[in-house]
Amino acid sequence: MSSATSEQQSTRIPDEIARAVVLPESYGDETNITYPAFAWLRENMPVGQAFVDGYDPLWLITKFDDIMTVEKNHSLFNAGMNNPILNTQAGDAFLRSLTPDGSTRYLDALPFLDPPEHTQVKAATSNWFVPKNVAKYTERIRAIAREDVEKLLNYDGECDWATDFALYYPLRVILGLFGISQEDLPLMLQLTQDFFGANDPDEKRDDVDVSPETAARQFQAAFADFFAYFDRFTEDRRANPRDDLMSVIANAKVGGEFLPQATVNGSYLQVATAGHDTTSSTISGVAIAMARHPEQWQRVRADHSLIPKLVNEAVRWTSPVKHFMRSASEDTELHGVRIRKGERVMLNYPSGNRDEDYFTDADVFDLDRSPNKHLGFGFGGHMCIGQHIARLEMEILFEELASKIEKIELTGEPKPIKTNFVSSFKSVPVKFTKA
Ligand code: HEM
Repeated sequence: MSSATSEQQSTRIPDEIARAVVLPESYGDETNITYPAFAWLRENMPVGQAFVDGYDPLWLITKFDDIMTVEKNHSLFNAGMNNPILNTQAGDAFLRSLTPDGSTRYLDALPFLDPPEHTQVKAATSNWFVPKNVAKYTERIRAIAREDVEKLLNYDGECDWATDFALYYPLRVILGLFGISQEDLPLMLQLTQDFFGANDPDEKRDDVDVSPETAARQFQAAFADFFAYFDRFTEDRRANPRDDLMSVIANAKVGGEFLPQATVNGSYLQVATAGHDTTSSTISGVAIAMARHPEQWQRVRADHSLIPKLVNEAVRWTSPVKHFMRSASEDTELHGVRIRKGERVMLNYPSGNRDEDYFTDADVFDLDRSPNKHLGFGFGGHMCIGQHIARLEMEILFEELASKIEKIELTGEPKPIKTNFVSSFKSVPVKFTKA
């Protein structure tokens, strides 16, 4: 980058730090790679530009307040001008080749939309997601939690918490809410893993190096499969609406008209995928944290009213969504740094959730953390629509677990998948003692 201007040089992030935040493989070791890089950035260059081979130049936003500023300003920081999910240049070029207008809007789902379209589409289903409505499903969710905890106990004290347990519960909950038969669970699981695991070589066949084009193709194939799967349900739910989320999405209307088919499919896909890996990662995060802090687990066991705090801290501490992207719709300034029209900013939620200005000893899981208003569900107009479902299903699960499991211990190092988008764990080996 010898051609960098002096302005670029003063805000140019050192290459090693830039790679630590941008590259998917860094997230295979957050403790030693990404979190130290975020801490360096917050201290030295809270708004700095990353130049990483194969990627567009990106402004990395790492302070809580700056992330909030971007999140609050929809019209200045656009979601849909460019891909709201970080991808390689080659991957984005491939996606652009698939869309009629050459944009990266390969999916008609909320994260890709801006107002007024975003506001209308979100409003069309948002009533279903409010706490009061979601609470109606408590007993249905509890039945799933009880079954899954029973299965966990059958492992007789030792299992992989991530792949034997945490992976299935949120998927079973979301399938139940959607109104999809549990028999389709393996299919949905595969599709979601294809969707989110596209950059992790370990998620592919052995010894195959994943090129950006392959990753993009895999991504595209995964959601084409989703669409084929869901198409058959929409007509049925319009003719025979039921008390399920698929009926809500299929029958949602803007200006008296059903949502376009692409938006209906995009919404199914968005909810089905966003609704489960995020939550299973957080459930694994709790197991890791409680193995490291057994005294906190004992307190939760003795007093179930601490469970909402446990869940909230788990979302902060795990921060399963690593980023969303925005693009400046005009020249602007953030934290005293000039950002030009069209430039892309990366909102680093895990960093905002470790910001020293808001969180003391932020690397430590702390049940008593208060206040604990974090960015794990984002903020502003795009804030997670499913957060109340996620909280409710996790609270129910840990109520069930707290009375059945006395102690959780790690028997090996947890292995996260290598992704810079939505994390999950390949493995969390544990031993547990039944109560
Ligand atoms: C622990 C679990 C979860 C976490 C940590 C999480 C996190 C997030 C984050 C960070 C965003 C982006 C917010 C922003 O741009 O400011 C988001 C958006 C979204 N989430 Fe979640 N989520 C979780 C569970 C769920 C569930 C269970 C569902 C659905 C049932 C869901 C559906 C969505 C949707 C549809 C969006 C897009 C909203 C928009 O762009 O307006 N999420 N989530």
